[in-house]
Amino acid sequence: MRTSFMRHPAAGIVALLAVAVVVPALSMSRPPLAQEPTVGDKPNDVAIFMRAKLGHAQHVMEGLALADYDLIERGAHDLALASQASSWQVLQTEDYARQSREFRRACESLRSAAKDKNLDGAALAWMEVTLKCIQCHKYVRDVGTGN
Ligand code: HEC
Repeated sequence: MRTSFMRHPAAGIVALLAVAVVVPALSMSRPPLAQEPTVGDKPNDVAIFMRAKLGHAQHVMEGLALADYDLIERGAHDLALASQASSWQVLQTEDYARQSREFRRACESLRSAAKDKNLDGAALAWMEVTLKCIQCHKYVRDVGTGN
């Protein structure tokens, strides 16, 4: 029996790269990662909302690793939906809106690659999505959100 990584060597490499890129990126948030965000002196709905992206991203990773296209599609859809929610609109700048649009576009190409059962295409689109995560966070850090 051959594994799908053997049939799709490029997808395997890209998936591994994605792990290498995403894991350090995810450790960027200031407080050590807790399972449930503890509510400090003020309730932080945005943090809880933002943290949910990790769960969607994990669905995508799992879907890519197992060639489970439904899981990839669901994760991509949830990420794209999240990017349209009001809690996502942390900064009211044109740059932030553009980053959000680009992120959503990358999620949509991920979703359509999964629909087409194109694992290599999905792996590449996922790279694009993770780069958008990192770029937007970099932008937000540089601009400063006051916390
Ligand atoms: C268009 C901008 C944008 C994109 C794209 C984006 N994020 Fe975020 N993310 C934010 C903002 C804004 C915050 C809140 C930053 C703050 O509180 O200072 C945040 C916060 C987070 C946090 C920290 C939540 C906490 O505990 O405070 C995580 C984790 C996170 N994002 C994961 C992701 C992942 C994973 C992706 C990609 C799949 C992603 N983000 C894509 C804007 C973005």
